[in-house]
Amino acid sequence: MRAVVVYESMYGNTHLIADAIGAGLRTAFDVRVVPVSQAGPEVIADADLVVVGGPTHAHGISRASTRKAAVQAADKPAGGLTVEPDALGPGLREWFGQLGSCPVQAAAFDTRMHGPAALTGRASKGVSRLLRERGFAVVAEPESFLVTKQDRLEPQEQERARDWGARLAAGRRSGGE
Ligand SMILES: Cc1cc2nc3c(=O)[nH]c(=O)nc-3n(C[C@H](O)[C@H](O)[C@H](O)COP(=O)(O)O)c2cc1C
Repeated sequence: MRAVVVYESMYGNTHLIADAIGAGLRTAFDVRVVPVSQAGPEVIADADLVVVGGPTHAHGISRASTRKAAVQAADKPAGGLTVEPDALGPGLREWFGQLGSCPVQAAAFDTRMHGPAALTGRASKGVSRLLRERGFAVVAEPESFLVTKQDRLEPQEQERARDWGARLAAGRRSGGE
């Protein structure tokens, strides 16, 4: 069985989480972890499970304007942030825009600030909605992985992401939710 993890990332945190989810999925799947800029239709064409995630920007999925703001914020020397290749896009929103119907099992994740989701927003909710709109069968609740105010992953989040991936894999093996 094949799984593909498609991620968008500005500062690398969502990339690290995508890699960790991929490691968890490897308990049951052949896994590819692919940045959204390289996730053409052929990449997910014969996948049995597609896991999609990105950073929360302005309470939801990034836009061109928020990605530009993210790159500008990284220019401040104090932050010590480096920007991923292709950070300016296209992002997940544009990726979904060019995607045809995909009747494949799927799940959504995001990274976001620590705090109640009602206050921070979470991109995974929008990703889940777009997955359903494109015909994916969403098999798990959207999941968030947390970053600090300095845009670094909270301790344990990579481990939690690996566990989440492994649970997704176990659920697919047993055919359940
Ligand atoms: C322009 C911008 C807007 C953001 N808006 C939010 C937000 O509304 N809620 C939130 O929880 N985090 C917000 N953040 C923090 C991001 O979620 C955080 O930078 C991201 O999870 C880091 O992932 P990455 O390293 O993969 O880019 C924002 C960050 C940027 C740069």
